[in-house]
Amino acid sequence: PQAKEIHKGLAGVVVDTTSISKVDPDTNSLLYRGYPVQDLAARVSFEEVAYLLWHGELPTPDELQAQNATERLQRDLDPDVRDAILALPTTAHPMDVVRTAVSVLGATDPDAENLDPDALQAASLRLFAQLPAIVALDQRRRLDLPEVAPRADLGWCEHLLYLTFGQVPDAVVVDAFSVSMTLYAEHSFNASTFTARVIASTLSDLYSAVTGAVGALKGPLHGGANEAVMRTFAEIGTADDAAGWLADRLAAKGKVMGFGHRVYKHGDSRVPTMREALVRMVDHTGRTELMALYAALEDAMAERTGILPNLDYPAGPAYHLMGFETATFTPLFVASRVTGWTAHIMEQLASNALIRPLSEYVGPERREVPERP
Ligand code: CMC
Repeated sequence: PQAKEIHKGLAGVVVDTTSISKVDPDTNSLLYRGYPVQDLAARVSFEEVAYLLWHGELPTPDELQAQNATERLQRDLDPDVRDAILALPTTAHPMDVVRTAVSVLGATDPDAENLDPDALQAASLRLFAQLPAIVALDQRRRLDLPEVAPRADLGWCEHLLYLTFGQVPDAVVVDAFSVSMTLYAEHSFNASTFTARVIASTLSDLYSAVTGAVGALKGPLHGGANEAVMRTFAEIGTADDAAGWLADRLAAKGKVMGFGHRVYKHGDSRVPTMREALVRMVDHTGRTELMALYAALEDAMAERTGILPNLDYPAGPAYHLMGFETATFTPLFVASRVTGWTAHIMEQLASNALIRPLSEYVGPERREVPERP
């Protein structure tokens, strides 16, 4: 019999339609519901981006006000989630903490099994409201700092920073952080979003789908790359060491985290906007040596391999300059991407087909089970 065509890694396979975002590798562009992501990052708040992803249109002032009011009412961390986080060792991987917290939120939502559109929207907003407190509490307990009580008078991005650092940071920091949240929010059928859609397609609940997505995002080939960039910088040392370090790395057939992309082969559409935000953070903090190292590795990589940076490359150092611990970077990605994941879960359920591909069996042919004495 003819061997079936194998699409390893599902590369190049179109599995469904989506109206949430369009990634165009030819023009290096990314549109959320038709709007260029860099324009959204410059002109609207992250709460508006979340609304857009969920509802398909930017909110009117009244719609935004209503969404914000509901979100702000749900900022107090669920007590069972707090207990679950505090029961975990501080050595736990922060993504394991976030994954566990999301799972507990599912267990404490009496409406979690309800897959009606209104219930899915309510659960999405609940996750969006709770994640800043989850991410902030985990960083603070690792640093042996007390939990910060939520406030209802701050925008979502400002509030996440406030819960993490105990004070509202400078507007430059809030803006750079908001840009990163908008850029991370959605990216079509990436590995974690696809994971969420697979789980949703079995008619499991939204929290299970998001829990699985967090697990998929943890890996260094996906979301874990933003942390890996800072670890790489620490390993390299200074800009002068970048070319030598890269030569050794490539000679050892090692990958350089924060570079390359499955879809974009001529550059990641999100990088220029995030790079500008990073430059503003460098100007704000005076940490020019970090930018020198950033540029030196980028240049050496382009010269040696032609491979260009992805969003994680500027986002990692930007988060470092904002004061986040390196281990917190991927949980920040979760706090943003939860908007895209939940939009996809709702889209999947609106016209569901169980996602169940085939495989080509290459193991032993049929054989007899030996008799046991
Ligand atoms: N460093 C060194 N070589 C690389 C890199 C890299 N970062 N990326 C690709 N290559 C090489 C790779 O070794 C391969 O070479 P060869 O053909 O000689 O074996 C060639 O380029 C094609 O790479 P691939 O891994 O087969 O391509 P892919 O489409 O499967 O990989 C990727 C995409 C993102 C997994 C890969 O570029 C990579 O591992 N990058 C590093 C991890 C990273 O930064 N991930 C974040 C992705 S974007 C944001 C996100 O999703 O979080």
